Formats: sequence, structure tokens, C-alpha cells
Amino acid sequence: MTTLLNRRQWLKAAGVTLAATAVAPRLSRLEAATLPAAPSATSGLVQLSWNENPFGPAPSAQRAMIAAVARSCRYPDDEEQTLLEMVAAREGCPTGQIVLGNGSGEILDAAGFHFGYDKGEIIAANPSYMQLVEAAQRAGGGAVRVPLNARLEHDLPAMAAAISPRTSLVYIVNPNNPTGTVCDAAELKEFVRTVSARVPVFIDEAYLECTDDFAGRTCAGLATSGHNVVVARTFSKIFGMAGCRLGYAVMPEKLAVSLRARMTGSLSLTTIMAGTASLGDTAYVTATRAKIKAGREALTAQAKALGKECTAAQGNFVFMRTGRPVKDFIARMRAEGVIVGRPFPPLTDWARITVGLPEEMEICHRALRKVLG
Ligand SMILES: Cc1ncc(COP(=O)(O)O)c(C=O)c1O
Repeated sequence: MTTLLNRRQWLKAAGVTLAATAVAPRLSRLEAATLPAAPSATSGLVQLSWNENPFGPAPSAQRAMIAAVARSCRYPDDEEQTLLEMVAAREGCPTGQIVLGNGSGEILDAAGFHFGYDKGEIIAANPSYMQLVEAAQRAGGGAVRVPLNARLEHDLPAMAAAISPRTSLVYIVNPNNPTGTVCDAAELKEFVRTVSARVPVFIDEAYLECTDDFAGRTCAGLATSGHNVVVARTFSKIFGMAGCRLGYAVMPEKLAVSLRARMTGSLSLTTIMAGTASLGDTAYVTATRAKIKAGREALTAQAKALGKECTAAQGNFVFMRTGRPVKDFIARMRAEGVIVGRPFPPLTDWARITVGLPEEMEICHRALRKVLG
């Protein structure tokens, strides 16, 4: 079985120890170093099950975090305000329409509680990303799960038809997790315009920056132009900052006030500084998008060469029909040193595999040939 460096070995190889990062005089030496790309799971296996992006954080974001360490005795209010203004400028709206969160997950939880409260019912695709729906259920709300269509995309007409007087929110994940499929841009925007006149619509765009046409597909313009729409983004995917926990959402100002009241986290200086640097590093995002696309296309081609069907996935992962119970497939891949995504019922013979580093993908392709060949 093949193993890669675990995190401790990687920190050692990079010349970084926890003690070193805490000692200010050594910072300039650290700052000069370019850290190697992130290692895989602590288990030493290739971790391709969490949709992380191992190409990040950008070196500019790493330098910003290192520089922030020595200033960590200060509360980061001014820096947070700067990040907020940068995000608002990016989205073309007042800061009052932006909510920052500890990952977009914190915002999904807050929205789930807000819209699930008082027995509110959430309409969501099946299968899809469940964090918001599960938060709504914890708050006493309900869920109406609408099956994906034959291409494993959101079935927007069926979701519109599912709206009832009990509906408190329609939740769309674009691209969808786990299938990676995107909604047709014109159809989705028309859906959002029409539906948001009746009930609020939440578009989770966690993976949208990985796609071929972010600007043409985003629905943020509808959120900033007065529609009852929330658009959520994360720094965990294209920016490769999953461990930093940073996300934001754009929404009507009144709703932003309500959601902020339900949030308890506060951002660290290092996270804020990394986010600010990342937003300014468009060249890094462009390069990362190209690497993710190359990895996704090679993995899709590998699956197809083995006779396996794939969706038209656009995130940093591929969704393939293995033709066998996914639990067996997961166990066989693990035995070959690769951790792949969990079962996503009702699609129990499909598997989700994240795009990793080129050397990780080499191991993954070899494992696929052995397990599915
Ligand atoms: C569709 C989707 N939305 C949101 C998230 C939450 O990400 P984070 O809390 O890291 O921003 C994830 C995480 O994988 C996701 O897949």
C-alpha cells in the first residue's frame, strides 16, 4: 500500500514547527520559505473524500498568515472591516448585505435555524449537501427532498412545483455536491427571479469558482439587486483554505441582520489576513482553476476508459458510476491507499472522488485501474 507524508512529517520537511511559528525573530526565515503543497490525510492515505483543494492556500495568503502571527495579541476589528469592504466591493453591494462566517458552513447553519424555525419547510435536491437542511431539522423544521433529473442535475421545474404554504426556503447547490452538475445559467436565473417572488431562495455557490463560467453562472447579482435571494461562497474550495474556516454570503440587508444574530463565531486575525490576500490574488485562482480542471478531466477520462459513466461535473471532484455497491468500492480503494467519498443514497453505486495533487492522482488512477479494471 502506498503512503504519502503525514502532516507531522510534512511540517518537519517544511522546516515549520509549532514552536518556530510562535517565535517572532524566525518569521522572516519562514516567510521566505515556500511551503510545499499540503499533504494528504494524517493516516498517510491519499485523502480524496472531503473535496479539499490541496493547491492552496496561495503563497500570498501563507505569507499574510505568517505575518499575522506576531500581531495575534490584537483583536482584528479593523482587519475584519477591511475584508468586509473588499468582499462588498467584489460583489458590488453595501457591506450591510454581506455576512462573514467561520466557513460558509456557519452561515448554512444560521440560515437553517432561521428558516427551519417555527416548522418552516426547506425544499432541497436529493442527493445534495445537507448542512442547511439538517440545521433546519434540528430547529424543528421539515424538508422536502426533490430527486435530481436524469442527468443528475437539480430538477428546477419539480422544485418549483413542490412549493407549498409551508415552504420557508428553496435551497439550490450549484454546482451540486455530490454530483458536481451545474444548472443551466439562464434557466436558474429565471427560476430564481420567479420563485423568489414567493419564497426566499438560497444558492450555495461553494464550488462555482471551479467552473468554466463563474461570472455567467453566479446568482449574486440577483441578491444585490433586491431579490429575496442568498448567495453563499467559501474560501475552502478555490482558495484552498478549508482549515482556515472562512466564508461569506450576499443577501438582503434585513435578512443579514437576522442571520448575524444567530451566529456565534468570530474570525481570527490569521484567517482574515489570508482571506484578504487571497481575494487580491486573481492569478493564483486562475492557475488553481486550471489545475483542478486538468485533474477533473483526467479522472473523468480514466473512469470512461474503464467503461464507467460520469456526470458533467464542474467542481473539484468527479462523480462516477462504479457499477457496484459504493461501500465495497470505498473498501477496495482504501486497501489501495486512497480514501474516496462516502455513500450518497439513493445513488448507492456512484462514488465521489476529489481532485488531489498530481502525485496523489497517479496513485488514485492506479487504484481505479486495479479496482474497476
Ligand atoms: C456545497 C457545500 N457548501 C458548503 C460547504 C461548507 O464549506 P465550508 O464550511 O468549509 O465553507 C461545503 C463543504 O464541503 C459544500 O460541499
